[in-house]
Amino acid sequence: MFVSKNLSVNGENHLVIGKNDAVSLAKEFGTPLYVLDEDLVRENCRTYKTAMDKYYGGRGLVLYANKALCTLFTCRIAAEEGLGLDVVSGGELYTAIKADFPMEKICFHGNNKTADELEMAVENNVGHIIVDNIYELERLNSIAAKHGKVQKIMFRIKPGVDAHTHSFVQTGQIDSKFGVALENGEAFEIIERAVSMENVKVTGVHCHIGSQIFDIDPFLKAAEVMMDFIGDLKDKLCLEIDELNLGGGYGIRYTESDDPIEYDEYIRHVSEVVKAMSEKRGVKLPFIYMEPGRSIVASAGVTLYTVGGVKDIKNVRKYISVDGGMCDNPRYIMYESEYTAVVANNASAEPCETVTIAGKCCESGDILLKDIKMPEIRVGDTLAVLATGAYNYSMSSNYNRIPRPAMVAVSDGAAKVVVKRETYEDLIRNDL
Ligand code: LLP
Repeated sequence: MFVSKNLSVNGENHLVIGKNDAVSLAKEFGTPLYVLDEDLVRENCRTYKTAMDKYYGGRGLVLYANKALCTLFTCRIAAEEGLGLDVVSGGELYTAIKADFPMEKICFHGNNKTADELEMAVENNVGHIIVDNIYELERLNSIAAKHGKVQKIMFRIKPGVDAHTHSFVQTGQIDSKFGVALENGEAFEIIERAVSMENVKVTGVHCHIGSQIFDIDPFLKAAEVMMDFIGDLKDKLCLEIDELNLGGGYGIRYTESDDPIEYDEYIRHVSEVVKAMSEKRGVKLPFIYMEPGRSIVASAGVTLYTVGGVKDIKNVRKYISVDGGMCDNPRYIMYESEYTAVVANNASAEPCETVTIAGKCCESGDILLKDIKMPEIRVGDTLAVLATGAYNYSMSSNYNRIPRPAMVAVSDGAAKVVVKRETYEDLIRNDL
């Protein structure tokens, strides 16, 4: 009935998540409130891990892409479930360190890592650094030399694959700020340079074609192109590549019309392509990495709001205002992303009118859901926006000096705060 499979309705007609009544959660912890279903996050981790074992003989590692939702809590879950981690900044790496994440299972990404960030990664023995460009390569080589280390690296490659998704989150084509391209020989040249260096060791190549992709073909095409490139590196440079990192990007269901593929199916199909290409090109079967972010946490999240006002502008639009908005979920204002909402205290009511759910920020574009069919919504209702686990908290801001909501993890009827609600005092902490 709901876009996320972990939701249901109880006898009081309230929305239930992780066996917790959403209305009670809102009462106990206040709103806005990020709720994360820990059991579903763990289940998603296991789905990926099991598929990797089943279809690729365990010769691979699933990395949780931390940018989707980076907290100590989620880092710990990923570690406990045997996943690795994709980090993209010193801050994400710091969080992983504080969560005691095994450093050798971390890949450090980013198109412009600073010298300080590279230093931090090398000092802390991060498993792989995914090198984006020649400047970074030179910088990293000298930092590793200073520390007397040889840093394992992979290269971020643009495979030239067109992923069918929002242009803001497409990254596989040549016109992208990320990585080096195959078409113009840039990728080949940078690897040739790297193999001559003493303090980096090229172990793998990486690509990430985009995010929220439903179509499996671009993923298969990317795997094929990358395996071909591995073949070329062997033929022309006598370089054996041990590892292939295929990034993340698997789509999730935000609305009824979204139709994602089962995640283990991605792994099955991609494994077949990699195996076939390894035979075709006469290269050894690489150890593979995948980096799902959104598909691990998005569906496990729900954001609860309290409705504060209803503005019915006759023949124009009906606005429902809630106590959060673009500061806790900027995805509508950035990408016009679509979501599904439920009146948590009247969860099985049928839709009867078209409304727009607006946030409380001083910005006309501060919308959470535009022109959606909803049941009647009243002031005081608890509104639940579904599938907000990814790229909500991690992209939140203090715009208008609005404190970030708390995050509560629910599991089998229990609920605990995993991120405290920010206070006004937090907001001025760095002001002098
Ligand atoms: N690996 C790399 C190198 C990435 O850049 C990303 C996402 C991922 C993995 C994880 O992709 P996922 O499985 O989560 O799609 N803020 C945007 C999404 C940006 C994605 C950035 N990179 C949004 O809210 O839709």
